[in-house]
Amino acid sequence: MLNGKKVVMGICGGIAAYKAADVVSRLKKQGAEVDVIMTRSAANFITPLTFQSLSGNHVVVDMFEKPVSWEIKHISLAKKADIFVIVSATADMIGKIANGIADDMLSTTVMATKAPVLIAPAMNTNMYENPIVQNNIDKLKKYGYLFTEPAYGRLACGDVGYGKLAAVDDIIDDISVILNDKKDYKGLTVMVTAGPTIEAIDPVRYITNHSSGKMGYAIAKCARNRGAEVILISGPTSLKPLRNVKVVNVLSNHDMYDAVMNNFDDCDIVVKAAAPADYRPLKYSSQKIKKDDDNLVLYLEKNIDILKELGERKGDKILVGFAAESQDLIKNAKDKVLKKNLDFIVANNIMSKDTGFKSDDNAVCIIDRDGGIDNIPRMSKIELADIILDKIKSLK
Ligand SMILES: Cc1cc2nc3c(=O)[nH]c(=O)nc-3n(C[C@H](O)[C@H](O)[C@H](O)COP(=O)(O)O)c2cc1C
Repeated sequence: MLNGKKVVMGICGGIAAYKAADVVSRLKKQGAEVDVIMTRSAANFITPLTFQSLSGNHVVVDMFEKPVSWEIKHISLAKKADIFVIVSATADMIGKIANGIADDMLSTTVMATKAPVLIAPAMNTNMYENPIVQNNIDKLKKYGYLFTEPAYGRLACGDVGYGKLAAVDDIIDDISVILNDKKDYKGLTVMVTAGPTIEAIDPVRYITNHSSGKMGYAIAKCARNRGAEVILISGPTSLKPLRNVKVVNVLSNHDMYDAVMNNFDDCDIVVKAAAPADYRPLKYSSQKIKKDDDNLVLYLEKNIDILKELGERKGDKILVGFAAESQDLIKNAKDKVLKKNLDFIVANNIMSKDTGFKSDDNAVCIIDRDGGIDNIPRMSKIELADIILDKIKSLK
């Protein structure tokens, strides 16, 4: 969440300017206060009224317009900003800032700000790859300006290549990282496991479970935002890959075990939020099994218990597990925390309808080694991830 954070957004004259409306809307939903400055060209692509309605604030286009308050607007906005974001940044605006030109409201305010400036460029591939533009970008990076790099794809002009405005999700993600004041995980490496595993029966079929991976991804994201180096071992999920995180994708419990053990020595903290399958088919059929009979008997054998193995090797690392139970939640979780040598366990009641596996929310109990129980009410998995990370930090 970006409650109370002050974002000043600059919008330039390109086709992707309409996507800036989504960025403003998303920032507002996260509680940020947004002021918008548009270039004159931008106002040809999308109206100031759109941004005024979305931000709830007067939108400035003309540097010399009659002021709506006594303040010198470009200075007051420059000072007010916790972050300055330019979406979508034109070749022209990048060139102006890189060369110290301040001839309109946006370039003047950027020049006057001491806040971090995040630039999300969008332009035709040939423009983007032009050495002059690249030179300007490099120059700005050297001065500490930050970039959400454009994506590869089909552009409005029909060309395919780099220059497409980055996904709104990625822009919001970068803003959240920059605005996160809490960098208490700096210098720490956190390994997080997430999602289910799949255990193959034959080339077509497999056994799996309902884990969505959302809880593990939320923890990985928050740890990254708080300054940690993050290693995410992910089973198959439909979630968007996280940026600036080392992601190792795995399929089976066996793969997850290998990936966890290969990275174990490098980390200080392990959070096992994945749901690796407990059993796998005893025999894998290399040919698709025919449906000739009315019944099919599948023999299963036990998989390695990754969490237990980690508990045996834990040393002075922090080890956190998750328990998903349909009955005797507290008793089973208390047993697990000791049996597996965990620092604490996060217990989910999977019978609850509006929390748990696929939901964006969760309500859990955190149980520590001495049996202490913390009941955490229903909240978003992102908010819960921060609480779990606070708890880990209190043990370090
Ligand atoms: C239809 C159209 C689309 C444009 N799209 C882009 C664009 O995506 N990126 C860009 O850098 N310039 C684009 N331009 C050129 C800019 O609008 C032009 O360089 C303008 O001077 C930029 O002004 P500003 O930087 O003050 O917003 C486009 C121009 C037109 C007419």
